[in-house]
Amino acid sequence: MAFTKKTVRDADVDGKRVLMRVDFNVPLKDGVVTDDTRVRAAVPTIQYLKEHNAKIILMSHLGRPKGDGPEPAFSLKPAAEKLAEVTGYDVKFVDDTYGEKAAEAVAALEPGDILVLENVRFDKREKKNDPEIAKTLASYGDIFVLDAFGTAHRAQGSVVGPAAYLPAYAGFLLEKEVDTLTSIFAEPERPFVAIVGGSKVSSKIGVLDHLIDSADTLIIGGGMAYTFFLAQGRSVGLSLKEEDWVERAGEMLKKAEEKGVKILLPIDNRVADHFGEDAVPEVVSSDAIPDDREGMDIGPETEKLYADAVKAAKTVFWNGPMGVFEFDNFAHGTEAVARAIADSDCTSIIGGGDSVAAINKFGLADKMSWISTGGGASMELVEGKALPGVEALLDA
Ligand code: 3PG
Repeated sequence: MAFTKKTVRDADVDGKRVLMRVDFNVPLKDGVVTDDTRVRAAVPTIQYLKEHNAKIILMSHLGRPKGDGPEPAFSLKPAAEKLAEVTGYDVKFVDDTYGEKAAEAVAALEPGDILVLENVRFDKREKKNDPEIAKTLASYGDIFVLDAFGTAHRAQGSVVGPAAYLPAYAGFLLEKEVDTLTSIFAEPERPFVAIVGGSKVSSKIGVLDHLIDSADTLIIGGGMAYTFFLAQGRSVGLSLKEEDWVERAGEMLKKAEEKGVKILLPIDNRVADHFGEDAVPEVVSSDAIPDDREGMDIGPETEKLYADAVKAAKTVFWNGPMGVFEFDNFAHGTEAVARAIADSDCTSIIGGGDSVAAINKFGLADKMSWISTGGGASMELVEGKALPGVEALLDA
C-alpha cells in the first residue's frame, strides 16, 4: 500500500518556519540519553529541512510528567544535546514551550537553524488536546510536519493540533513506518510467519486477531502462551495466566483452525520455582508443567520448532519476547528466535517495544529489515486502526 499523505517533499520549505513534532521520548539515566535510536530516526527529515533552508522548530514529549510545570527529570535538553552530537549540527534549546521565551527563540531563527522546545507535556493541556495549545504551537510555524511515528496514535495537542491551523505534512520516518507496517500485511511474500510474545493475551487481542487474518503461521511465546494452554485444557502450574481471557484464546485457536492458519505453541518450557534473576531453569514438557513451577521461557525443543518455521518464511513479523529475557537464565528462547530471524534471508519487520530491546541486547539490530520506533503506535497500525496523527495530515 502506498503512503497516502503529503510528505515534506511536497512542501515548499525554503526560508519557512517548519514546526515539526518528533518522538524524542528516549530513555535517560542521570540526564544522559541511554538509547538514541529515536533521535537518529528523526535525522533524515531534519537533514532534508536543513539542506532546504528551513527554520526548524522541533517539539516532543519525554516520559509522562504530571503536567503542572517543568520537571527537570523529563527535560528535553539531553535529547537536544544528543541531536547535536549525532548530526554535528548546532542545535539550540529553549526551556519553554508555550510562553514568550519560546516565541522569542523561534523569532530569532535564521534559515537552517534548529531549535528544540521544552517538553510539550509540562502543561496538562497537551494531553487534553486543548485547542489553545495547538494554536500557540501553530503560531511558531508556517508549515507543520509530523515525524513522531511513535506518538502518532495519540490525539494530543502537539500531534494532531497544529494540522488544524497549518498545512500538515509527513516526515520521512512516519512515511517509512506506515508504509512498511501496512504493506507487510497487504502483500506479504509468503510464507508469512508472525511471532507474538509478551505477557498478556489481553493487551494483544487485536494484533493476534489481525495476524490470524493475514499470516500463514502464527507463533506464540512468552507469558501469553499459558493462557492458550488453559484454553487447550492443560495445566500451567504457577505460570502467568489470564483466566478471563481463556475463552477468547480458545476462540482464536478455533478461528485459526478454520482459516487454515498454523498456530505454534511451545512444546517445552523453561520453568522455575520462583520469579527472579537467580531462579534456576528446569526444562519440562508443555503437557507436564508441575503445579509448583512457573513458566519463564520457551524450551530448547520449541526453539528448534520456531527456528525451523522462521527458516521456511519469506516474511516475518515479530512483536514480544518469548520469555523473561531480562534475566539471562530465561533469555535463551528470545535469543534463539532473534538469531533465527537474523540468519534468515526473509523480510523481517520488528514491531517496537520489548522485542526491539531484546534485539539490541543481542546486537542483532543491523540484521533486521525494519525495526519500528513505535511501540503502541505500531501495534495499533498492525491491528488495522487509523492513527489520529496520520489522519490529520494533507492527503496526497
Ligand atoms: C512511546 O514511547 O510509545 C511513545 O513515545 C508514546 O509515549 P506515551 O505512551 O507516553 O504516550
